[in-house]
This record gives sequence, C-alpha cells and structure tokens, in this order.
Amino acid sequence: MLSLKNIGIVLGGQRVLNGLNLEVQEGEFVVIIGANGTGKSTLFNIISGAIAPTCGKITVGGVANNFCQVARVFQDPRMGTVGNFTISENMALALRRHKRRSLIPFETRKRREFFREYLSILGMDLENRLDDPASTLSGGQRQALSLTMSIIGDYSVLLLDEITAALDPKSSEKVMALANKIVSAEGKTCLMATHNMHHALTFGEKLLVLRNGKIDKLFMKAEKRNLSPADLIETFICH
Ligand SMILES: Nc1ncnc2c1ncn2[C@@H]1O[C@H](COP(=O)(O)OP(=O)(O)OP(=O)(O)O)[C@@H](O)[C@H]1O
Ligand SMILES: [Mg+2]
Repeated sequence: MLSLKNIGIVLGGQRVLNGLNLEVQEGEFVVIIGANGTGKSTLFNIISGAIAPTCGKITVGGVANNFCQVARVFQDPRMGTVGNFTISENMALALRRHKRRSLIPFETRKRREFFREYLSILGMDLENRLDDPASTLSGGQRQALSLTMSIIGDYSVLLLDEITAALDPKSSEKVMALANKIVSAEGKTCLMATHNMHHALTFGEKLLVLRNGKIDKLFMKAEKRNLSPADLIETFICH
C-alpha cells in the first residue's frame, strides 16, 4: 500500500532522513518510535506530501506521489478540526472527499443520523452535541472527532503523529483504544509515531525504530512480547 524507497532530506543544513526504505502492506498497523528530532514528523510530512524529499520515491497504492490518499492526525487536537464549525459541519467537511459519497444519505436528517451513528462509537456523547462548535470540546473529545473524520474521509493511509501526547492519561488511553478499534475494524493501513512505550508495545503489527535518518530496527508483534519499555528506550541510545 505504501512504499518509500531511498528517501533522503536535508533540513536547516542537517541530513534528517538518509536512505530510508519502508514498505507497509494494506491493512497493516505500523508504530514508529525514535528520540526527539530523529525525523518522525518529517517522515509523515513527506508521506502526506507536505514537503518534498531531496531524493527517493514514494508510492501510495502503487501510484507515485498519490498524496490525496493520505490522512493525518496531529499531536494538537485543534489541528484536525475547524473550531468555529459545529461537529456536524466538521463531519460534513470530511465527507466531501468520501470515495463512495453516493452511498451516504444526502437528506439532512438522514445525514445527521449517519453522523450520530459514527460518533456514538466513541462513547463520548458527541452524537448528542452535533450543533456544538468543535472549539467547545475537550482535547480528548476533539482528538476523537479528528480520528472519526479521518476515517469517514475514506483515505487509504492514516498517519497518526503522537495523537495522545496532549491528552491526560485517561483520555490518552481512550483515544488510543479508539484509534486501534477503528483502524482494525476498517482494515486501515496506519502509521503511528509515539513516545509512549506502552502504546508502542501494545499496538500495531510492526514496531520500527528511527535512528540516524533511517529505520534502524524492526520488531514484529511476537518479538515485542519479550520487550519491556526500558528495552525500547535502550534502542534509541547511540552506542
Ligand atoms: N522546516 C524545518 N527547517 C529546519 N529544520 C527542520 C524543519 N523541520 C524539521 N527540522 C529538523 O529536522 C529534525 C527532525 O524533526 P522532526 O520534527 O521530524 O522530529 P521528530 O522525530 O518528529 O521529533 P519529536 O519526537 O520531537 O516530534 C529536527 O532536528 C528538526 O529541527
Ligand atoms: Mg514529531
């Protein structure tokens, strides 16, 4: 689904990514960890087409530079939603790019039912707040709305960049469980960057460690079972 070949980029005179290769299969959930400044967000910027690499090739679903198939949820819950728009208006925005739009009811009342149904999965009572502006939601609620919007937008690849970093421990666990649920239920191809070692060990089929501009280590699900958070932190440290 996603293929990166020999990606390199120089930013501010520094070689951030250097010969990075990565293949992600359809429906795979891949977690990326790495120290601050190793290039995780830069990698996501490149995959989403926000910046162009100095060298290398990217294909999404077999098509070169197919960035319109890539959705991104950011660390800051305010980034994925429009604060002045209501929940319903935000959902309608996300729907505008749904591949099978014609299957979604056009009539307002039925469309609101459709939104309610999706939002009720979150268990945050947002289905009863369709006319509230997104700016009135808490960080966790707003992040959950961003996630839902990225799912109904029907993208092929989902990039989650430290989506729980700004949330309290309870909301963080809730949003992460939710992300995992929708990613697996919808069979989404997903890449997630995190500094939460517990999440890194719990979620995803593969765990990658980014270091020195490339994927330095890869752990499969079975291998993760034998690792502790302390073991993972050790993988960041330069030897
Ligand atoms: N626009 C830019 N101009 C100059 N340098 C940049 C730019 N964007 C990123 N960098 C540099 O690239 C490096 C990688 O940054 P990036 O944000 O990708 O790291 P990260 O792994 O996401 O870190 P964190 O875990 O702190 O989010 C850093 O040294 C950063 O200063
Ligand atoms: Mg980052």
